[in-house]
Amino acid sequence: MKPLSSEELVKMREACRIAAEVLDRTCKFVEEGVTTYDIDQFAKRTMAELGCTSPCINYKPASNIPAFPRYICVSVNEEVIHGIGTLNRVIRDGDIVSLDVVTAYNGFVGDNTRTVLVGNVPADVRKLCEVTEGALYAGISAARAGNRVSDISRAVERFVKPHGYGIVREFCGHGVGRSMHDEPQVPNYYSRGEGKMKLRPGMTLAIEPMICLGSRFVKTEADGWTITTRDGKPAAHYEHTILVTEGDPEVLTVLS
Ligand code: MF3
Ligand code: CO
Repeated sequence: MKPLSSEELVKMREACRIAAEVLDRTCKFVEEGVTTYDIDQFAKRTMAELGCTSPCINYKPASNIPAFPRYICVSVNEEVIHGIGTLNRVIRDGDIVSLDVVTAYNGFVGDNTRTVLVGNVPADVRKLCEVTEGALYAGISAARAGNRVSDISRAVERFVKPHGYGIVREFCGHGVGRSMHDEPQVPNYYSRGEGKMKLRPGMTLAIEPMICLGSRFVKTEADGWTITTRDGKPAAHYEHTILVTEGDPEVLTVLS
């Protein structure tokens, strides 16, 4: 992606702040007894209230993939990403619920994700969530001008590795700004010869580790969207949109 100008950055900051607000409010809505459909409808209403839109609804990345039918992604337990809210899935005590909220406002896009822990989550799953959030911040710390995309990937991988968790490889972070998905791809593992792009001030990236309690292998469900772990074990997902600066990276998807 082209680095954003300071005028563009003013709008980007606003878009990201709103994405954070929608995510934060929607996380607070999650509790035992609500359905994943209710959660999506709550996010829809919140977006309308804040005057932003969802780039996800009806999103169709390829002709062989059905249009995404919801406003946000709601992924429970073994669902890793791209979960489709449904009236049949009721949140239960002990669930973990990843909410991936992307919003568009005044021509710019903010993207952020958090995994919500509901009630009595087993200690090993709580640990998974803590480590995944830690891995996000490790990745953010590496997003410095002069570093390469691969430095972010390596930082995430190194943070996760001692815990023995599976790191999803099929999906990555990404540039984000005027559109939801821009260059470069930001993988959560190091791969020799990849991620050569140098980071420059003004670049805005979505960094988003997707980490599995068990093995890293995933599959796509019959709905064409929901990505689940093959072993059925839970996965966590945390994401921020960040800005590369001359100094420390700046997290854009924060509340004001
Ligand atoms: N937030 C997701 C990402 O970072 C995009 C959601 S996919 C959609 O790639 F279908 F919901 F749009
Ligand atoms: Co993203």
